[in-house]
Amino acid sequence: RTAGPTGRSIVLVGLMGAGKTTIGRRVASRLGLPFVDADVEIERAAGCSIADLFANYGEAEFRKGERRVIRRILDDRPLVLATGGGAFMDPATRAVIRVHATSVWLRCPLPVLVRRVQGRTHRPLLNQGDPREILAGLMEIRHPVYAEADLIVDCGDENVDQSAGNVISAL
Ligand code: S3P
Repeated sequence: RTAGPTGRSIVLVGLMGAGKTTIGRRVASRLGLPFVDADVEIERAAGCSIADLFANYGEAEFRKGERRVIRRILDDRPLVLATGGGAFMDPATRAVIRVHATSVWLRCPLPVLVRRVQGRTHRPLLNQGDPREILAGLMEIRHPVYAEADLIVDCGDENVDQSAGNVISAL
């Protein structure tokens, strides 16, 4: 196969801890597609960490850079892209994704998200207070927007292979 079942790129969206990177990598390898992590590409392009980008330029500037990077990545050949949890919230980024790719929301219950982000300190949004409360707040704001993705795949306690299989069957 040279492309996903739909012939378009596949973009994974969802909250921090939903498994976008882990599941995305598995989906890509099963479909024989390249895998790209938007956060990694942003850090590469900026030459510094996402935490530093937030601290030095603020979230609004980060979102602009994120949009540029995602546009550039999706302009290339079909691939599987894991986006940062806020990317799909930005209307312009959402428009770019809509034009170029099939979007998949990895929907994940709060307790699973909380468990998965535990002890990880590289996410600036989670360092301002109790991760459970922050994630619960983000859930309320973001779920209605994530629901605009082309496909929704539930991924709670399934293992990576099951979840990757669920994404592929949904395509
Ligand atoms: C963010 C999620 C992070 C990263 C940044 C902001 C968000 O990516 O882009 O810290 O707004 O939800 P992950 O979802 O891969 O953790």
